[in-house]
Amino acid sequence: MDNVTQRKEVLKLAVFASGSGSDLQSIIDAVERGDLQIEISILVCNNPDAFALERARSHGIPSALIDHRGQSREEFEQEILSQLEKYHIDLIALAGFMRILTPEFVSRWSGRIVNIHPALLPSFPGVHAHRDAIAFGVKVSGLTIHFVDEGVDHGPIIFQKSVEVLEGDTEETLGERVLEQEHIWYPKVLQWIAEGRVHLDGRRVKVEGD
Ligand code: GAR
Repeated sequence: MDNVTQRKEVLKLAVFASGSGSDLQSIIDAVERGDLQIEISILVCNNPDAFALERARSHGIPSALIDHRGQSREEFEQEILSQLEKYHIDLIALAGFMRILTPEFVSRWSGRIVNIHPALLPSFPGVHAHRDAIAFGVKVSGLTIHFVDEGVDHGPIIFQKSVEVLEGDTEETLGERVLEQEHIWYPKVLQWIAEGRVHLDGRRVKVEGD
């Protein structure tokens, strides 16, 4: 069984975000409270209008704005890779990052990229998880934190939390309740990884002490 990240003093984390960055904020808050022993070394952002950039700036976290427009996927990822090298990054946390990473990128970072998805995978992958869950009529949705592999919203699952779908829920109301849970659980799962408690065995993930 592989230990996902080597135990070392403090893991250096890169957060990738494209939008509001409330998941990023929950990670920042957990670090500042002392609940998450990790260094947020850099925010990688592909959208110049993302509020995530402002959140990073106001907490003194360096950010790399790498606009995907006007360049090939390879050039875009090459720029990201050089930032990851520059900051000696150990672990990547995707937090509302709305670009699909190429299989080459993912295999290079295999076992060291985590993502949070706002549904109980493998149900409702993609960018409209809440809309799809409501349209399907499920009674329970939730969130999934998983390692990223070459498939979209497909990699080994570390943690899932269910959230009830209520009568009359809209994409927005369900989204808000799921986000509340995301903000609790993403920092906790990152802390498990930082403690070296998360082990990957094929598609299965074992969390020590769980
Ligand atoms: C979160 O709900 C996250 O799970 C989702 O985007 C939102 C980002 O919110 N991610 C995906 O849908 C990835 N497929 P934020 O910008 O406020 O952190």
